[in-house]
Parts: sequence; C-alpha cells; structure tokens
Amino acid sequence: MSNADIVTPQAAHDFTKLEKILAKYPRNEASLIMVLQDVQDEYRFLPCDVLIEVSKVLDVPKAKVFAVGTFYKAFSLEPQGRVNIKVCMGTACHVRGAQMVMESLARELEMDGPGTTKDLEFTLETVNCVGACGMAPVVVVDDKYHAEVKPERVEKLLKTKEAK
Ligand code: FES
Repeated sequence: MSNADIVTPQAAHDFTKLEKILAKYPRNEASLIMVLQDVQDEYRFLPCDVLIEVSKVLDVPKAKVFAVGTFYKAFSLEPQGRVNIKVCMGTACHVRGAQMVMESLARELEMDGPGTTKDLEFTLETVNCVGACGMAPVVVVDDKYHAEVKPERVEKLLKTKEAK
C-alpha cells in the first residue's frame, strides 16, 4: 500500500489547534513524537486528517507518522471519551464479578460493550490485571482506582464523574 492509499474516514477536524501545536516545534522528524503527544492531548485521539497534515508539515512520510501513532500505547487512532473507565478483567477481578460490573457499566452508558459514547464523554475498556488484586473487582476511572466495585455502585460512580 502506498501512502496515497491511506483513507481518511473521519470527519474533517479543526486545524487551528494543530497550527498552535506545530508552531511550538521545529518542523522536522525529530519533533514527531512531541507533536503527536500534543495532538493526543488536544483532540483526545489522533485524527487521520490531522496526522496527514502533520506528515506534510514535518515532512515525514505518512506511513511513518501512522506507524508511530499505532506503536505507542499512549496514542489512540480512535476518539477517546473525556472520562476513561477501565474495568479489570484479570483472574482475581473476573472471579469476583468483573463481568457483571462491565455489563452494568455498559448498560448505564447505553453501550453494547467496550468503546466510546457518541457524546465523547466516556470511553469504556477492559484491561488485564492492574496490580490491585486484593481490591478486586477493580475499576479505574481516569487514574483513580475503585475497589470492590459492585454492579449496583456503578451508577453512583458515573454520576460522580458527570458532576465534575
Ligand atoms: S486481576 Fe484485577 S487487579 Fe489483579
């Protein structure tokens, strides 16, 4: 596949934020990761059209920009919600009801399962052991760990975030 074959299925994005980001760095390949970090922070993901513009301005091949964008876990090519919710599905959490917690969260957010709500408020995902098995089942909301989460506590947990 050549660079010209890369399609951009997402809607066009506002490049004003991108221009401000690009103005902070030298226009060369050495700036790529810093620019992508700022794009991820500003847009909450790496939109295709923005990546293509980054490729042009920094004069880095599109394939390289997309390769870097998919390599690091801190980057996402999919839109991310304002609030990130990780449900631990490791063994300890699983045996203590993580699946029911996951289903309850998905129901509250009117989703079928992991993903991002249409209003970009919440991203729901499953993760393997987050290293707090004694607190199972664990839900991590942004960076805060919630211990022994019960399905009936899920609604309250989401309300706390909405109120912010
Ligand atoms: S299995 Fe969930 S924290 Fe270890």
